[in-house]
Amino acid sequence: MENRVYIFDTTLRDGEQSPGVNLNTKEKLEIAKQLAKLQVDVIEAGFPIASPGDFEAVRQIARTVQGPAIAGLARANPADIDRAWEAVRDAGRPRIHTFIATSPVHMHYKLRMQPQEVLKRAVEAVKRSRDYCEDVEFSAEDASRSDPDFLCEIFSAVVEAGATVINVPDTVGYAVPEEFAELIRKLRRGVRGIEKIVLSVHCHNDLGMAVANSLAAVTAGANQIECTVNGIGERAGNTALEEIVMAFYTRGDIFGLTTGIATDQIYPTSRMVSSLSGMVVQRNKAVVGSNAFAHESGIHQDGFLKERTTYEIMTPQTIGLPTSKLVLGKHSGRHAFRNRLEELGISLPDEEINRAFQAFKDLADKKKEVTDRDLEALVGGKIIAVPEVFRLDYFHIVSGNSTLPTATVRLVADERIFEEAACGNGPVDAVYKTIDRITGIQTTLEEYSLRAVTEGKDALGEVTVKIRDNGKIFTGRGTSTDVLEASAKAYVHALNKLVADWKILGRWPRPVQEIDQEGAAGGSRTGKAAG
Ligand code: KIV
Ligand code: ZN
Repeated sequence: MENRVYIFDTTLRDGEQSPGVNLNTKEKLEIAKQLAKLQVDVIEAGFPIASPGDFEAVRQIARTVQGPAIAGLARANPADIDRAWEAVRDAGRPRIHTFIATSPVHMHYKLRMQPQEVLKRAVEAVKRSRDYCEDVEFSAEDASRSDPDFLCEIFSAVVEAGATVINVPDTVGYAVPEEFAELIRKLRRGVRGIEKIVLSVHCHNDLGMAVANSLAAVTAGANQIECTVNGIGERAGNTALEEIVMAFYTRGDIFGLTTGIATDQIYPTSRMVSSLSGMVVQRNKAVVGSNAFAHESGIHQDGFLKERTTYEIMTPQTIGLPTSKLVLGKHSGRHAFRNRLEELGISLPDEEINRAFQAFKDLADKKKEVTDRDLEALVGGKIIAVPEVFRLDYFHIVSGNSTLPTATVRLVADERIFEEAACGNGPVDAVYKTIDRITGIQTTLEEYSLRAVTEGKDALGEVTVKIRDNGKIFTGRGTSTDVLEASAKAYVHALNKLVADWKILGRWPRPVQEIDQEGAAGGSRTGKAAG
């Protein structure tokens, strides 16, 4: 098909050459099976002569993985080619990929060879490979810094020797799109027999242009792109497979090209490669980064909720991600907030939504991202509240491993302020003793528990307390990013429940200590509150 671009995946070879990546055979096999599900055309499974481990991995992949062609890399010498063939020979569709450098700098310093010697070696390598295998790819390493006329000469010779694919690597990520496209056009014109073979490109990302160069190359006549999942690879990496595929998918109007990729396998493949290789995907990475389908600004969220395409050019489902994410944070608006609560099955009357929204904004000021679990905790712990006889206004704690923990707490009741201080066995005990002093209510603390209800260092802590009075248990909950604040809120919540019960029984109001603003600043003065 004219408009079909072949996807040659080299995650297991060039990707595995990333500094810090070292996959074992089992992991490589797992990735190769996933690449087959992704429906890449070719899997470059490794460099068999590099180590016994590499050889074994390529051989097992060749024996196990069905669908894509399985390629093994070989320098242009007999030992490499023989080893590569040994590794791939059992594949349904084996390929030998042989290469030699063609740029003046590589030929002179690295190979110490004259161009004609390089050409001879390339031809011999392709012929030897063809004796084994019908599918042979030849790469001119550092092609983008090679003399285009020499490239035409060497590519014409290897095509004549039987190469079925010729590959043009931008080995050091030096090319820029228009220049690279021009090189491809030149090769299309100057390589004899090019019409019967596949013309491939292989770009590195040193200047951040690997994807742009690959796209420019296909518009100029290349029909195979070599790439890696998440763009991992030597130095700054290789062309990112997911970016290429989604560029064709999303901008069919411009490219008019297709791949055989099952796009809904892109995200699962990206996750697998990231977790097995240990190469974390940056949050803002195109297509597969965790922010790629996340919206935080209130304006964007509002637009997105009205019509998705206002701020999304691809659907997350296309790459196998269940949904877009409206990140609830300090920039989010009421629309997104209400929407998320509804998605969580929480519907609140308007006045409670207003209160919940305020509580959410307070939390969003403290946390970067408010998650669903935060919201559930927030709504469960704060909004479904008993009437607030006492409200925590302020607390201050002095604590340490050689200090007697002391708390100062200010509560508001009946629009009056009450402040006290007390010491305790620990900071929570000090807070609770201070609250007892203010309220004048003596209960037994039956249970205290603390758990993190959300993930991360800035997770919300939820404290649950149970207090007992006259054989009755009252449970209070408090949530905050500060566990002491959560503890104080939980205790006050439980006391408010107790007071609500006392009101029914006619046991409330009761006297409590009062310290007004003047007292808080300059010494305490007792008074009566809440009655
Ligand atoms: O970058 C490069 O030149 C390569 C070749 C071996 C294809 O990886
Ligand atoms: Zn490479």
